Amino acid sequence: MKTQITELFGIEHPIIQGGMHYVGFAEMAAAVSNAGGLGIITGLTQGTPEKLAKEIARCREMTDKPFGVNLTFLPAVTPPDYPGFVKVIVDSGVKAVETAGNNPQKWLPALKEAGIRVIHKCTSVRHSLKAESIGCDAVSVDGFECGGHPGEDDVGNWVLLPRAAEELKIPFVASGGVGTGSQLVAALSLGADGINMGTRFIATKEAPVHENVKQAIVAASELDTRLVMRPLRNTERVLTNAGVERLLEKERTLGSNIKFEDIFAEVAGVYPKIMVEGQMDAGAWSCGQVAGLIHDIPTVKELIDKIMGDAHEIISQRLKRFDA
Ligand SMILES: Cc1cc2nc3c(=O)[nH]c(=O)nc-3n(C[C@H](O)[C@H](O)[C@H](O)COP(=O)(O)O)c2cc1C
Repeated sequence: MKTQITELFGIEHPIIQGGMHYVGFAEMAAAVSNAGGLGIITGLTQGTPEKLAKEIARCREMTDKPFGVNLTFLPAVTPPDYPGFVKVIVDSGVKAVETAGNNPQKWLPALKEAGIRVIHKCTSVRHSLKAESIGCDAVSVDGFECGGHPGEDDVGNWVLLPRAAEELKIPFVASGGVGTGSQLVAALSLGADGINMGTRFIATKEAPVHENVKQAIVAASELDTRLVMRPLRNTERVLTNAGVERLLEKERTLGSNIKFEDIFAEVAGVYPKIMVEGQMDAGAWSCGQVAGLIHDIPTVKELIDKIMGDAHEIISQRLKRFDA
């Protein structure tokens, strides 16, 4: 399937694996790229530019296909070494970067000069237009269903994607809530040139996370995610667990007086406990409503082949019938 996204990134299938903290290691990215999608290493998980350079080199040993790096720009008192991360990415010869969070404008000249394609993740049409205006090559439009940070506008992809199609000139992928071939076809119908998936890729054989995490996603329904940190305007969609319910109780009790310090225990340093140790009640970790559509733990190749096979069948058979 050729789309503007497959052409832009030099990949076989229009499927991207979004950056995921403590999931997007070399094993994950290489598995997705080897299966014909675009795998993404999560830059900040590595902690330092030097470690990211090693992770990129490790990924290169596992695949000769294109893969990318996610750089998430967070509001932080002591920001990560962003200049160092950008330099490592440029020097490594990686040709795709997924940016997310704050406006990536400051870093675009260095990335573009190195011939790197930049796809910025946005949760609104206005941020997507901003990304287009500063020179991003594509946008990942992340609807309210998504695992992670859906922003504060609460617009689902059923409306957000066609709205993006009305306004954007650069290509975009549908992100958030996607896990099946029928959704890929729907995304294409709504104007997207591909899909970006997070949660779905965690429940795969190759995902380098504790088995408990995969089983929790399979066991979860579409009703099992919660929105935390709303009062702090830093909303995150997470899978519910004892830690998350504790956090929500604090949000209810403290109301608008809540500060980040109040919920520190349930959000800070949680990812290694969950993803590495499998302590499923440790606190808040991102998970999308698509969990309700995830019933198995296939290999990444089986997953991508099934999505593409189903998509082709729907386009050539089911949709053809309605065109008579
Ligand atoms: C466990 C997890 C961790 C994530 N970490 C990041 C991150 O560090 N940076 C980022 O830009 N997006 C992050 N995301 C968001 C994904 O890249 C992607 O946009 C999102 O998962 C899409 O929604 P879906 O989960 O419904 O597929 C994360 C998502 C999950 C599920």
